[in-house]
Amino acid sequence: MSEFLPGLEGVAATKSAISFIDGEKGLLSYRGYSLETLAENSTFEETTLLLLQGELPTAKELSDFTKQLRSQYRIKYHIREMMRHFPSTGHPMDMLQTAVSSLGMFYPGNECLTGADTCGDLQYVRNMTVNIIASMAPLVAMWQHMRTGYDPIEPREDLSVAENLLYMFTGKEADPLMAKIMDVCLVLHAEHTLNASTFSALVSGSTLATPYSVISSAIGTLSGPLHGGANSRVVEMLKEIGSADNAEKWIDNALANKEVIWGMGHREYKVKDPRATILHKLVSELIEDRGSSLDTTFETAMKVEEICEDRLGHKGVYPNVDFYSGILYAEMGIPADQFTALFAVARSAGWLAHWREQISDNRIYRPTQIYTGSDLRDYVSLADRTS
Ligand code: COA
Repeated sequence: MSEFLPGLEGVAATKSAISFIDGEKGLLSYRGYSLETLAENSTFEETTLLLLQGELPTAKELSDFTKQLRSQYRIKYHIREMMRHFPSTGHPMDMLQTAVSSLGMFYPGNECLTGADTCGDLQYVRNMTVNIIASMAPLVAMWQHMRTGYDPIEPREDLSVAENLLYMFTGKEADPLMAKIMDVCLVLHAEHTLNASTFSALVSGSTLATPYSVISSAIGTLSGPLHGGANSRVVEMLKEIGSADNAEKWIDNALANKEVIWGMGHREYKVKDPRATILHKLVSELIEDRGSSLDTTFETAMKVEEICEDRLGHKGVYPNVDFYSGILYAEMGIPADQFTALFAVARSAGWLAHWREQISDNRIYRPTQIYTGSDLRDYVSLADRTS
């Protein structure tokens, strides 16, 4: 019964109807729709409703949800004042975790989360879901300006989540291709079964903590370099490699020193991550559209992929979602230390879908352990301890 499996690999910790991965075939679906189909046809707003509700929304449901989201882009004055006192060197993920948990003080009401199997107030669940998803992108974009000593840019209710995110970052309306790419990035990162941060959200949710605590736990878990933090490391790594010609030597040296190649490998996929395939295509499209300075980075990335396939493919290690996402964000003018925060913006949809699934049929998480410590022994008073 109590076999220990490091990293809980292969252990089913919940039942879920939200998303599905076939790691051998490289397939990912949300609520039964393939990710390729959603990336092609859907939007972040529609995908979010699909994740939350289980079905594609009607036009009226989507329009109501979009209106609600947009009406809550604005962040409360006191949260903004609190952010002014954060150190400008603070990491965006630490800022986001702190700001999201502080929202809980401004939007109380979790006393309605009671009992084993349901939430007493579905309106609370819906309102908090909208409030958190609407707040994430503005918080991230506001911090970009505040940490450099400027006032944040006010959100615009006539823009989608992706458009408003880019607008609040740059102060300019994004061109349609960039806005579309950002929207696809949000769709691709919105959900991914029971990864470390989602598991963290489930554990917090199972105690009936507020959704703000649930999401701030998940943000903290996502921040680690083995999870969401890998995308900024990829861009740093590609910069260090410098050119496609240098890739082989650099990778062989890193592998000889037992270092990880950032953006490679995934517990679930034994082939190329389908999200990496979609992002790879988007980078190619962007280069084709504007013949940009991305060329060198992209060429280096493709060479790294080729060499890693040769050196690591037999272990089932291929590019994951983080391998190409950083290249796109850098092209949008977003600093590397903000990439993981963008991941969190998107993943808030999946985390909240899992939170809602958890509290609708809840049992507190309380796993066991295999004790490896000492047998019961006598207490020795301080005076009698020799060494
Ligand atoms: N670079 C080099 N070797 C890698 C590797 C990488 N990025 N990812 C996995 N491997 C190797 C491991 O060293 C191990 O080799 P071994 O069998 O000779 O010891 C083998 O592949 C299996 O890897 P393992 O560490 O058991 O996989 P995991 O499921 O525990 O870890 C990750 C998955 C994602 C943590 C791991 O692949 C990784 O660290 N990747 C880099 C970080 C990253 O990009 N994370 C974002 C994930 S979306």
